[in-house]
Amino acid sequence: QKSSDVTIQGLTYPTDSYTNVTPRIISKVGCNLHNQKYHPLNLIRHRIQNYFDTYFTTHIGSPVFSVFDNISPVVSVYQNFDSLLFPPDHPGRTVSDTYYVNSQQLLRAHTTAHQEDLIKMGLDAFLVAGDVYRRDEIDASHYPVFHQMDAVRLFQEKELFARVNDPTNLSIFEDGKRTADKQEFHSLEAAKLLEYDLKKTLSGLADCLFGKEVEMRWVDDVYFPFTHPSWELEIMFEGEWLEVLGCGITEQKILHNAGASHKVGWAFGLGLERLAMKLYNIPDIRLFWSNDPGFLKQFRVDDPNTPITYKPISSYPPCINDMSFWIPNEEFRSNDFYDLVRSVAGDIVERVELVDEFTQVAKQRTSHCYRITYRHMDKTFTQAEVNDLHTKVGRAATDLLGVTLR
Ligand code: PHE
Repeated sequence: QKSSDVTIQGLTYPTDSYTNVTPRIISKVGCNLHNQKYHPLNLIRHRIQNYFDTYFTTHIGSPVFSVFDNISPVVSVYQNFDSLLFPPDHPGRTVSDTYYVNSQQLLRAHTTAHQEDLIKMGLDAFLVAGDVYRRDEIDASHYPVFHQMDAVRLFQEKELFARVNDPTNLSIFEDGKRTADKQEFHSLEAAKLLEYDLKKTLSGLADCLFGKEVEMRWVDDVYFPFTHPSWELEIMFEGEWLEVLGCGITEQKILHNAGASHKVGWAFGLGLERLAMKLYNIPDIRLFWSNDPGFLKQFRVDDPNTPITYKPISSYPPCINDMSFWIPNEEFRSNDFYDLVRSVAGDIVERVELVDEFTQVAKQRTSHCYRITYRHMDKTFTQAEVNDLHTKVGRAATDLLGVTLR
């Protein structure tokens, strides 16, 4: 093992110029909050799984959807992007958006990364729950690690047309044109039946999570590289439209590459934190990582359908400090600074915001000013403690990112 290697869950990987995983991020791998009994993310995950187990059963009563909740988040660039038809220049592929182990492997940015492998195994219906990793801004609703659940449902011609009165002249495939409603390989009948099944399944899921009276709408000006057509489901929640999930008809090329050319299907994916924050009224995404019994004990219920409204343990006052510096060059990315703040100050950071940016043309230099909100989840900070941390952040930014503090 070389000193330049990284170890994740007992496996070592070589590093290279792509490597941007931090020890702090690596320490989250294996936490599997979605599998932790009584954790709010586990409760939501079980509500979703129970919906599928209850309403989608075979003629002998066993669940149709297989469940995978323990697949390693270290995946190849191929699994996360290429297999899902992401174009080569898609911004998600950049080192400023994604956590790379090295140029070949990364921490999955979505649980959709496992689609091709699972379809290759011959599965026609499955759910995948897991931790996903994205470099992003820092505030109460963004955290570099979060959890998703994905599903795929595939049909053969006979099964898709089973409920049609006279399917004799129908075919699921045709050599046609791609339109807003369908892919070039699909007949309009097949596309519409899939859309119907997808929307019925997912509106049933929304009813089950938010109650039968919930108001919903399908947003169709959405794009995913791996589905067409694609939709987002929104529900009316406390007076606002809330995005619940993304979904669509699986690109036929993906099925072809996975050895399932004769099947057609749909897929969806959703974020568990976003749902849990709304359903339980959890105000800050960092709370999911808290070991505070005051947080966790509020979710100790054996029936995941028990309604729970989170009561804040207490809210300690924030400390807000600004930091201004000249960036070293045009390649500087705010996401690098966000990661560094988290690495130095951990979950004490509630928010980091770029509040000012200006360029001195004559001197060819650009200044960024970031406002950092520090707030402890279970104690009051003294200004002295925060100043100490803030100084450490400044020093690390100088040493590691090459910025010049102003
Ligand atoms: N992977 C998408 C996301 O992370 C969600 C999705 C999954 C959309 C499957 C369509 C189909 O946002």
